[in-house]
Amino acid sequence: MIKLVLFSFLVFFSFFSVIARQGMWVPVLLQENIDEMQQMGFTLSADDVYNVNHSSLKDAIVLFGRGCTGELISNDGLLVTNHHCGYGQIQSHSSIEHDYLTDGFWAMNRNEELANEGLSVTFLIEMREVTDEVLAGTDTINDAILIQDKISENIEFVKNEAIAGTHYEAVVKPFYNGNQYYVFVNERFTDVRLVGAPPSAIGKFGGDTDNWMWPRHTGDFSLFRIYAGPDNKPADYSPNNVPYQPRKFFPIDISGINSGDFTMVFGYPGTTQQYLFSKAVQQIVEQRNPDRVAIRDAKLKILAEKMDANRVTRIQYAAKYASTSNAWKKWQGETKGLKRLNAVEIKLASEKLFDEWVNSNIDRENKYGNVLNTFDELYDQLLPYQKAKDYFDEIVMRGTDSYRAYSRLARNVRDKDTIDVDKELSFFDEHFKDVDPVVDSEVFVSLFQKYFYETDQRFIPEELSSLFATDNAYDVLLKIHNSSLLNSSQELKALIEKNDVERFKKALINDELFKLFESMSRIYYDSIFTQHRSISQKIEKNQKLYVEALLEKENDKMMYPDANLTMRVTYGKVEGYRPSDGVTYKHYTTLDGIIEKDNPEIYDYDVPDRLRELYLKSDFGQYANNKGELPVCFLASNHTTGGNSGSPVINAKGHLVGINFDRCWEGTMSDIMFDPEMCRNISLDMRYMLFVIDKFAGASYLLNEMQIVK
Ligand code: ARG
Ligand code: GLU
Repeated sequence: MIKLVLFSFLVFFSFFSVIARQGMWVPVLLQENIDEMQQMGFTLSADDVYNVNHSSLKDAIVLFGRGCTGELISNDGLLVTNHHCGYGQIQSHSSIEHDYLTDGFWAMNRNEELANEGLSVTFLIEMREVTDEVLAGTDTINDAILIQDKISENIEFVKNEAIAGTHYEAVVKPFYNGNQYYVFVNERFTDVRLVGAPPSAIGKFGGDTDNWMWPRHTGDFSLFRIYAGPDNKPADYSPNNVPYQPRKFFPIDISGINSGDFTMVFGYPGTTQQYLFSKAVQQIVEQRNPDRVAIRDAKLKILAEKMDANRVTRIQYAAKYASTSNAWKKWQGETKGLKRLNAVEIKLASEKLFDEWVNSNIDRENKYGNVLNTFDELYDQLLPYQKAKDYFDEIVMRGTDSYRAYSRLARNVRDKDTIDVDKELSFFDEHFKDVDPVVDSEVFVSLFQKYFYETDQRFIPEELSSLFATDNAYDVLLKIHNSSLLNSSQELKALIEKNDVERFKKALINDELFKLFESMSRIYYDSIFTQHRSISQKIEKNQKLYVEALLEKENDKMMYPDANLTMRVTYGKVEGYRPSDGVTYKHYTTLDGIIEKDNPEIYDYDVPDRLRELYLKSDFGQYANNKGELPVCFLASNHTTGGNSGSPVINAKGHLVGINFDRCWEGTMSDIMFDPEMCRNISLDMRYMLFVIDKFAGASYLLNEMQIVK
């Protein structure tokens, strides 16, 4: 067995260097990768990708909002990202009269573009390694807290220095678990307007049914425009602002995408954990993912049933269902993928080699000799707290609508002597608009039963156990929830309107559900969070040492830092895959597949009439491929993760051919371990986007400002 594992480990790792390129590379260090990229077909230089002295591809890319990527596609600040990234904005402009989610939205001229409060896009001006500056003076300090203080002080200094005399913003981020630091100088624009979005039946086609899956047919894009002051610098919204003139924008290439073509994805991947200890991976596979999946299973089952039965409930819970099911589905794919890969055994085998390397040198032994044992002990200690924390997070914090109401009100009860009546009323108007009290009560009872029966006694407050001491616990719980202020829009709002602080506080403090949530929060902070944090901090410290050792050990190879929502380059090629025995997936889908899925009875597959008409006429214009089909989505082997949504997929010439929006289910373990056989990113083909804008929406004037390469 060990031999087999070691063998697969060696095959696995030697594989990487030859074929598929896993990794999310730092754009300033691309000289290390560029030879390989060019061998794979890329025709640009590292300087064309990232340069601070002249314009480069990086100048056409933004962090969109807080967690997506977007890219410029015209000289007038036109930007494209995913539909699911612009979803919040599209929704906020929607009403019964103008239902842009259902019908789509197209500004027919610039005056019709819609401003979005709170939305910003961020360009990277420059990034620079500042490890020495950040760690300066820390080697003579022994106390961990004082070291942290010194680091924080240094970081402030580095940031201020980096942006002195400019309108830029700076952040410093740790790389390699704190073994390196980089400063990022950013330019952030806050006047970003909605230009266009397809109807959800295109932009979200397939919905949760197809999410994380191939074959895929989602037209997942939306268009925005960045506005600047007359000096082309960031300015808050003003009707006098003008379209921003970027340093760089992407030409859109519609000449075709073939299997084997070079592709590169350039954007903002959020989080990966490539250097986890074996036991941590084992805990994810055996405990964390199954726990979280089971809890969400219970919740989703109730929501699905209620949403199917009632159209109002369906609208109320659509967004909540989507966000709950997104990670739920991903975790299941991740667990399967890690098992299939033998990820734990592969990690153990590499830890064995690590141990031998450490023990073959006395200095190394002194420095790193305890790293693996320390991990082993700490992860054992963490396990029970991790379980309790996952249960608390999923069941209490994220489980119910009533907890959301509680956490808003608890702050008022604790810290305030007045009620801001208008503000609270508007918060709760919004909140209850999307709450069905019967649904929430059912979710509450189901999840709290899980909490009681499945977590350790010491994590259960007296207030909860006493409820379960009765023989009709189910009814008691239901009654508490049903009769709570937290679950009654009318009663709660009436109480707020009275504007009587004493009475307000008293009513809440005496509310049984409020009291239960208080006791849960108390036990969480006293018996879960504090212990979990203290062990986690020790793990982080050990992780830093482990990665330091790996950097020393792997010194001749390239080792990429985990994703941390900073700009990264990943590259691969267009290719399908074999998800299971006897099944082969092609690298692209077409409009034919949308028509195949068409079913007005199924919400996720309800094809708009206009799209069906265009299909019947085969009116694809210049967007058809050489077989006369209209391409919709394609697969490639780029190593991406959450945050890469909306990222440009760039071809060998540096042109835009796609927009990344998802990964394939069989490869979702790539956040922890990449498998070149199974890991594929899913992208929208630009030809489908242009077709939708031009032929479907009749907004072809937007194409005039784009540069289209045939
Ligand atoms: N899986 C994609 C991502 O992680 C898309 C999520 C949005 N779509 C959905 N059907 N929930 O962001
Ligand atoms: N849909 C994800 C996002 O919003 C991208 C898919 C992934 O995790 O790779 O960033």
